[in-house]
Amino acid sequence: KENRKKQNSYYDINRRAGRCFYDNLVQRKNEALDYLIKRGLTIKTIRSFGLGYALNGWNHLMNYLIKEGFKKEDIEKSGLIVENKQKDGHYDRFRNRIMFPIFDIRGNVIGFGGRVLDDSLPKYLNSPETSYFNKREVLYGLHIARKHAENKQGILVEGYMDVIILHQYGFKNTIATLGTSLTKDHAMLLKRYFNEVVICFDGDKAGTKATLRSIEILQNVDIDIKVIILPENIDPDDFINKNGKTAFEEKIQHALSFIDYKIYLSEQKYGSGSLEDQVKFGKAIAAIIKEIKSPIEQEAYIKKIEEKFHISKDAILREIYGRKTNVN
Ligand code: CTP
Ligand code: MN
Ligand code: MN
Ligand code: MN
Ligand code: MN
Repeated sequence: KENRKKQNSYYDINRRAGRCFYDNLVQRKNEALDYLIKRGLTIKTIRSFGLGYALNGWNHLMNYLIKEGFKKEDIEKSGLIVENKQKDGHYDRFRNRIMFPIFDIRGNVIGFGGRVLDDSLPKYLNSPETSYFNKREVLYGLHIARKHAENKQGILVEGYMDVIILHQYGFKNTIATLGTSLTKDHAMLLKRYFNEVVICFDGDKAGTKATLRSIEILQNVDIDIKVIILPENIDPDDFINKNGKTAFEEKIQHALSFIDYKIYLSEQKYGSGSLEDQVKFGKAIAAIIKEIKSPIEQEAYIKKIEEKFHISKDAILREIYGRKTNVN
């Protein structure tokens, strides 16, 4: 019973805080609302994701929550206020930030991400982890996306804004990790709601690296994997704001299999045309083909490679299996 009460107070505090941030955002004239609208969000979207604004003061939220009847020690446990060791007081963790409530699968608020309004660092600050809030098992947007998994396809992106803007454009099956790399827990959660995950990370080095890592993790839960490649230094949020809904739909339609994605990366890496690179490319391709377990699928890819890159089936197979084992 005590536990239940504690649990309620954790959720209640976070929900109340979310309400406070939301009111700050919509009821007062401030630059935060202008900022979100400039980034293309509608009021309806802001409301449905419960976005808010943490005012630029030290105790605004704390005073609000205390007035609401919550105990300081409970508020501190939620991570929303931080103890000031020198002065024996507390101050709000989030100040002058756009607030993104983070929901669990049932729609409880379990924490927040907070974004600065300019280029200062850190760009995002998150609630500290607690027994209710574990980043390794939370997917942002899943409480909505799970109700929009009709075709059993989920779109996996990197950021809060990517999720929100894609939902606004109608891609309500979009989810993101909270800035951490995808974990086994995330993968199992995805498997529960989707048959296929389309990875659409930022078009930069970090995004590519995270894509390759996520492919490995997702392979372990036996879910279909597709990959969307975005232009250099463009993320899904930038892409859809710039190019619109149809362009993104086309991206989804033409999403690559993860094998084709890996082939594409090798092409990028060894595409110089030099003999040395041609050899490296061939070897990289063989390594990719070797990973394919189904012989039929393997053969299909080999055929494609023969046609596209003029590397013979024979060479690929001998590269993979050696001369002797491959007699036919
Ligand atoms: N992130 C974080 N802490 C940071 C930077 C990023 O937790 N200091 C997480 C956030 O969840 C963020 C995600 O990683 O949404 C992706 O980071 P990034 O691509 O840098 O940000 P965007 O989501 O593109 O944010 P914006 O469009 O607002 O710049
Ligand atoms: Mn990024
Ligand atoms: Mn990004
Ligand atoms: Mn972005
Ligand atoms: Mn950006």
